[in-house]
Amino acid sequence: MTGTRLIYRSQPFGFDAAMLAGILSTARRNNPRWGITGALICRHDVYLQLIEGPSDSIEALYSRILKDDRHLDVRLLLQEEMNQRLFPTWAMLDDEAPSLFWSAEDVAKGALEAASPDTLLAPFLLLSKAHPD
Ligand SMILES: Cc1cc2nc3c(=O)[nH]c(=O)nc-3n(C[C@H](O)[C@H](O)[C@H](O)COP(=O)(O)O)c2cc1C
Repeated sequence: MTGTRLIYRSQPFGFDAAMLAGILSTARRNNPRWGITGALICRHDVYLQLIEGPSDSIEALYSRILKDDRHLDVRLLLQEEMNQRLFPTWAMLDDEAPSLFWSAEDVAKGALEAASPDTLLAPFLLLSKAHPD
């Protein structure tokens, strides 16, 4: 399958367990319909999400995500063609940030924006290995 892989980061607005549960339940309801899979790494200071699937589905989802008022300062970090998914069986895997090796201070200073594509993908590779199919 060819498609798009996209990673963005944002700043949670009003982060709490109920909000996160709401986001994940919407993602898990919608994503299978559009052939989208991925992972959402979440911490009080940052969301880092990888979404992968058919290019038009990814573009449509990202434009909805951009308008969502549950987070701020959404920034695209990586968008590339992919022919192999990292999370083939996950409508949306969630990870409460143990895989995120940047500190809150690093994130605030722009570490994610400065990271190379390989460095950005690294926490997602760890996650996908920790949750094999
Ligand atoms: C951090 C974050 C991640 C999200 N991830 C997804 C997702 O993977 N899939 C999805 O459909 N909506 C996701 N959303 C929600 C969308 O912004 C939007 O609210 C939703 O797609 C609208 O779907 P609905 O019309 O079925 O309510 C996310 C929102 C946030 C704040």
